[in-house]
Amino acid sequence: MPTLIARNLKTLKKTLESPKFKNKKIGLVPTMGAIHRGHLTLVDKSLRTSEVTVVSIFVNPLQFNKAEDFKNYPTAYDKDIKILTEKKVDLIFFPDQKDMYPEDFSTYINLKKYNHILCGKKRKGHFSGVAIIVLKLFSLVNPNFAYFGEKDYQQLVIIKKLVKDLNLDIKIFSIRTVRDKNGLALSSRNKLLDKEEKIKASKINSILNKVTLKKLHNQKNLYIEIKRKLNSCGIYKIEYLEVRDERSLKLYDPTTRCNENYRVFIAVKIGKVRLIDNKRVI
Ligand code: PAJ
Repeated sequence: MPTLIARNLKTLKKTLESPKFKNKKIGLVPTMGAIHRGHLTLVDKSLRTSEVTVVSIFVNPLQFNKAEDFKNYPTAYDKDIKILTEKKVDLIFFPDQKDMYPEDFSTYINLKKYNHILCGKKRKGHFSGVAIIVLKLFSLVNPNFAYFGEKDYQQLVIIKKLVKDLNLDIKIFSIRTVRDKNGLALSSRNKLLDKEEKIKASKINSILNKVTLKKLHNQKNLYIEIKRKLNSCGIYKIEYLEVRDERSLKLYDPTTRCNENYRVFIAVKIGKVRLIDNKRVI
């Protein structure tokens, strides 16, 4: 069966009611397009674990706190459709702005937890925008399973909380970060980096590997060392560099440590491009 494409809500509804989709276990992979291998790992997992796979492509204006960032977000719609068709996903949902946000759209989600730290601190309204679009996609597609990447770890935690708080009957699968051969976490935004910037960005992974549980005993020195290393690679704009508990996202505290897993989180700006990454601390 060829990949179907729904470009509006009417077609989406009709398709989901057709025999191919009705009463099937649906897997949803929400994306903003410019599909890369990271996205495709989520797609592969859905193809393996659900009966039908829906991939959504929508660059969601509500999660961009800067108009320029939204305007410059990379798109590759024709290529995306080609890649996803070759993957044999069952349905690509490709809505437009007015379908997702009618003119008088006025519903907002107030996230009380996990929203005031890391990316939520600087990018005001970002996760509220993510929560709205994901919830809308959940309500439109009604999936049994949904797939999210650890690359956006805070987003993953927020979506899991949303599902729990709202009693949504959706299993969230989390997928490990896919990196290129130099360790750079794949991201649609990498397309905006020039060659030199990309070399700088690919140093982040190996520098984060230097954050170990052992070294965390002397956090202050560790952060100084890491920042120095980033600087020496030409990365000066460090928005945050923090170690947090993987589940609660609470800051690492050596006095309360009790065999939990920790992650190091980083956001940097290279040229005009903001990049994020995270890794489990071992
Ligand atoms: P986008 O950045 O397109 O990412 C879509 C999904 O792919 C997210 O779950 C993200 O974590 C995952 N992903 C991206 N790069 C990855 C990588 N290198 N390895 C593994 N997974 C990766 O995240 C969004 O879009 C949006 O916020 C969205 C959830 C679609 C809501 O608009």
